[in-house]
Amino acid sequence: MNDVFSAINHRTSANNFDPAHVMSVDEITELAQFTNQTPTSFNQQNWRLVAVHTPGAKLRLKAAASNQPKVGDAAVTFVVVGKIGGYKDLPVLIKPMLDSGQIDQAAYDGWIKMANGLYEGKDQFQRDEAVRSGALAAMTIMLAAQGKGLASGAMIGFDPVAVSAECKLASNEIPVMLLAVGRPAPGNWPRKVRRDVGAIVSFSAD
Ligand SMILES: Cc1cc2nc3c(=O)[nH]c(=O)nc-3n(C[C@H](O)[C@H](O)[C@H](O)COP(=O)(O)O)c2cc1C
Repeated sequence: MNDVFSAINHRTSANNFDPAHVMSVDEITELAQFTNQTPTSFNQQNWRLVAVHTPGAKLRLKAAASNQPKVGDAAVTFVVVGKIGGYKDLPVLIKPMLDSGQIDQAAYDGWIKMANGLYEGKDQFQRDEAVRSGALAAMTIMLAAQGKGLASGAMIGFDPVAVSAECKLASNEIPVMLLAVGRPAPGNWPRKVRRDVGAIVSFSAD
């Protein structure tokens, strides 16, 4: 459990990555596997990752990301992709829970009905859910990378149209965030100051 606290307390955003560091597909897949444990509303799993780790693809993604050097230097940059209307996948996604007996038919039907009722016809809410889920997935990658002794750097500085084209995203998919991961190079900033905890938490009163 201390590993979690250590990862939270030691993660910082890196700008400088070792351009000589290469991550194998297996290593990248391991990070993706940790990230796969990220929770989503109704377990709709409305996100996916595009791992940009090859030289040509990195350069193209860099051009679509305000030429941020870390996209070219980091071993991999994950494009965190959110899916709009992901709740429509639930009948397939939660079927294994029904088949294994984890939930019964009534729970299965109720689960889907509740999700349909919540999301159907609500475009902004469906988009919010895609961003919400993608953001949680991005945080999981950052902590998993930290746990592996790697640095990470989140990015919103990119052209969403160009990134969508480069990653061939479907019309119901949006690039939520880019996330560079790799071995840090010297010169990264130390931990940045945060507000006092009293400024970020308030407590209910009965
Ligand atoms: C959603 C998000 C988008 C960000 N976009 C960029 C970016 O495009 N370029 C960049 O250099 N840093 C970016 N950052 C890094 C932030 O500046 C950094 O997280 C913040 O200053 C806090 O520093 P820390 O991550 O080291 O605690 C982004 C961070 C987040 C969470």
